Amino acid sequence: MNIKKFSTAVSMAEAAGEHIIELVKKKPESLLCFAGGETPLLTLNYLVEAALKGKVDFGKCSFVGLDEWVGLGRETKGSCRQTLFDYFFDRVPELTDSQICFFDGLANDLDAECKRVDEFIAKHGVIDFMLLGIGMNGHLGFNEPGVPTDKYCHVVDLDSVTKKVSVKYFDEEVNVSKGISLGIKHIMEATEVMLMAYGEKKADIVKRTIDTEPTSDVPSTLAKNSKNAVMFIDEAAGSQLN
Ligand code: GLP
Repeated sequence: MNIKKFSTAVSMAEAAGEHIIELVKKKPESLLCFAGGETPLLTLNYLVEAALKGKVDFGKCSFVGLDEWVGLGRETKGSCRQTLFDYFFDRVPELTDSQICFFDGLANDLDAECKRVDEFIAKHGVIDFMLLGIGMNGHLGFNEPGVPTDKYCHVVDLDSVTKKVSVKYFDEEVNVSKGISLGIKHIMEATEVMLMAYGEKKADIVKRTIDTEPTSDVPSTLAKNSKNAVMFIDEAAGSQLN
């Protein structure tokens, strides 16, 4: 896996943003997948500003959500849906609902949700580009440690680390125990995968991701087996690397 280190999270987000803009210029009808959480926010902001300035046109792209907390919808600040729509989809004027496929964390039939999202991706072939935040336990989306590698969309029991970390997203107390997520097979089949991490708190998992052979125990290591993966980190997240 290629590793690109940047002096700051801002310069990393700019480079990631420019990379995505180039990709969309080359293939305007790309299928893109951006993680929720904190990691992609600066990049999403960069892309929104570029779209508003007319530097990039997402009008022909499609988007698929990476994951969602089961039981949460847009009305919960910190849900993946709220994050992606408020920081990106609703700020890009050319986007319409038909371009976006996002897990409904409030759906009664979660298997049907998995099927719906799998079918949306299959209709497009494969995902052209994924921007994935590395979780504190190495999760990618909600592909938690021990994840089976042969799954597309699936419903997941959240790892204890994920449950503990989850409080940072929410203003109110929420009880999250399950997630719904694209699977490792989607990540393996994607044309390009960008793993991203910034800040000192990610330094340990970044080092483990790089030093460990691909294993489900540390899902971020599995990206090394994908077709074309790159890791974007800032100085702080890379501070334990030689
Ligand atoms: C969260 C989210 C993922 C995110 C990852 C890392 O649980 N569900 O979409 O990519 O874990 O989160 P963060 O970027 O906040 O560190």
